[in-house]
Formats: sequence, C-alpha cells, structure tokens
Amino acid sequence: MSATPAASAAFGHAVRVGAPNIPDRDRVLDRIAGALSRRTLSNNGPLVREFEDRLRRLTGARHCIAVTNGTVALELAVRACGLTGEVIVPSFTYVATPHALSWQGLTPVFGDVDAYGCLDPDHVRRLVTPRTSGIVGVHLLGTCCDAAGLEAVAAELGLVLLFDAAHALGSATDGRRVGTLGRAEIFSFHATKFVNSFEGGAVATDDDELAARVRAMRNFGQDDDGVVRSLGTNAKMHEISAAMGLTAVENITGLIAGNEQRHTWYADGLRDLPGIAVRGPRPADASNYSYLSVLVDPARAGVTRDEIVRRLAEENVFAKVYFHPGNHRLEPYPQERHRPLPLPRSERLAEQILVLPNSADLTADDVGLICRLIRDLVTRATGARGEPTSRPTVSVRARESS
Ligand SMILES: Cc1ncc(COP(=O)(O)O)c(C=O)c1O
Repeated sequence: MSATPAASAAFGHAVRVGAPNIPDRDRVLDRIAGALSRRTLSNNGPLVREFEDRLRRLTGARHCIAVTNGTVALELAVRACGLTGEVIVPSFTYVATPHALSWQGLTPVFGDVDAYGCLDPDHVRRLVTPRTSGIVGVHLLGTCCDAAGLEAVAAELGLVLLFDAAHALGSATDGRRVGTLGRAEIFSFHATKFVNSFEGGAVATDDDELAARVRAMRNFGQDDDGVVRSLGTNAKMHEISAAMGLTAVENITGLIAGNEQRHTWYADGLRDLPGIAVRGPRPADASNYSYLSVLVDPARAGVTRDEIVRRLAEENVFAKVYFHPGNHRLEPYPQERHRPLPLPRSERLAEQILVLPNSADLTADDVGLICRLIRDLVTRATGARGEPTSRPTVSVRARESS
C-alpha cells in the first residue's frame, strides 16, 4: 500500500500518525538528570510514584499502577482478576488486546462493534457460554465504550468486566472518567500515544485487593515488605519512562485542547465532502480526541480508503488503516476456535476507517493541506464542486527549512 513521496511532495518531511508528542523537553531532561543524581533508576522510584499519583488524580481511580507497557498491564489485570476460559473482546482493536489474553492462556471470543466502533453489548450477550469468565471492552481511538450497556451484561451474567483504555486517557463517558470503569482499566503510554512514556502502561482500579495483587505481580510476586507471596513477573516501569510520562501528563490539558483543535480543523476541511465522514465521540462523552479517524465510503467518495492512503503517501503524509484486517481474520486466531462470524460492522469499519496524522506539532496550515489533498482526490473522482488543491504551500515549505 505504500507509495514513494515525489520530489515535489506537498510536505518536505514525513508527516506520520503517532509522531511522538514531547511537551516539555527541558523538564524531561531535568527529571532524568535528577534520577541519575539520586542513582535511583528503577524499583518503584520517586518518579514512578509521582507519575502514579498524577494518574490517580487525573482519572479519579483509587489505584494506578505503572508498568512496562499496556500489553503487560492487560496481562496482569486478567491474571489478577482470575479470568479463565473464554473472554469476549471486540475484533476491531489493536492485536495487543486479544494477544494479551491468549498469552495468558485465555480464548478471546470476538464480538462485533456498535455504531461508535466499540464492543456491542447486545452482541456480547449472544456470545456468552458456560466457559465465559469476562469481557474486555476497548475505548477505541479515544471514544468510550457503551460502558453502561457492558456493565449491565456483566452484572446480569456474573462476568468480570475490564476495559482496555490504551487510547483513552483523559476521556470520560456519561460524566464518569476513564480509569474508574469496570473492575479495572488499562492504559498504554507507548511513544505513539498522545501521552507517552517512551514505553509504558498502567492498571487503574478502585479495588484495593486487586491493586495489591497487581503491585505484587509487577515485582516478582513480592509484597511491600519484599516477601514473595505469589507468582509474579518483572513489569516495573523505570524512572526514565516515568520522567517522560509525568511530564506529558502534567501537560495533558494542553495536549487534549490541541487534539480537539485539530479535530475541528479536520472537520472543517473535510466538511460536505461526499463519502468522507470525520468520526466523533458519543454525544455524552468527553473525548481526548487523540486519534483523528475518518470513514471512507467508496461508493460515494468515488475513491477507496486505500487509494487515499496511497495518494497521501506520494505527498509525504502517512495515514494508517487502524485496524485492518480485523483480529478475527488474523493467522493466530483460527476461525473454528474463535467464531462466531460474520461480524458485519467490524468488517465494514476495518474496510473504511482511515486514521490521519494528529500530533501536537501539526499546524492549521498542515491540516488544511492534508484536507485539500483529500478533497482534491474526491472532487476529481466524483466530479463534484470543491476547492482546488494548492500545493505545496509556502508555510509548509518554510517550516522544513527553519
Ligand atoms: C487498543 C490497544 N490495546 C493495547 C495496546 C498495547 O499497548 P502497548 O503498546 O503499550 O503494549 C495498544 C497499543 O497500541 C492498543 O492500541
């Protein structure tokens, strides 16, 4: 699907989805210097504890336990909750979600999504068998799950409910902050996330006992006194990651405001374009707007999602097709074990979704130019009226040389 940028590409540098945000470089370096001076580099150091405290205050969860990454956070959470047998997850998520379950010896059972691209509670209800022990909802691309719907199913059928909130730090649904939903939620602070700690993750929960189990599991099964009481692993976050994560999370209000501003620019730039719809959160949600996703309906747009990806790549803009194909079509998940199919909404979403660059360094001119490239392609394909593509703009070229 990749195309080589032309020498005359609209952008003189690669514009990528998930380009890391580094909100205050000096503060990060100061904190790392402090860790080096203290000679405390890991083992629940002061920066990790401060990061956890910040996360607790941000999310409202009683406990936030920082770990090496989001995948391990999910593995620890399902293990600490004692899940067994089958666990229902959306097919439409990053492969980390089902992989974390499989890695713990569980069988992910793939459910279809609702109109917002998140696990559909009605479909979940139909997938439950005597082997089902839990549900993992995914707040997809910053949009919250139908948490109330999943809570109702879990309560009625006696299932453990967890949320993969890798994309959703700072989001909320019906006035409830992500981090406080279900039995536990997990976050990712991977470099591509809008709040990053290079690599990192966290388990958030209000359950004191569960938190104590996760804390022990993160550190070889040792309790606070260093006594080994259970099996465990090494999932500890180190101080350099915490320095980055802490600095990013201190700046989260500005980061979310920037995400939302770019969302508005994209929505304005792509408005009324046939077959192109900018996705937004549920009406009752507060989104972190960290991912900018659009749906491309080829019958109306006259171009496919993949043609747009190729065209943008020629201009040095690298969009992503998160997440295609759906997990139920991936090699490690043989269909005879992970049925039932079909999953029509997941299939359609995987065919039509396109994630556009949205990192903090993008200006209004950058977003305007990306929108004009898409508008030009669709306008030519449909013969509809639209603004001509002006490329390259002076401001974009100027940035390259500054
Ligand atoms: C939905 C989802 N869950 C889990 C993860 C895993 O997070 P990490 O990369 O920190 O292991 C990711 C990573 O991008 C993700 O997108």
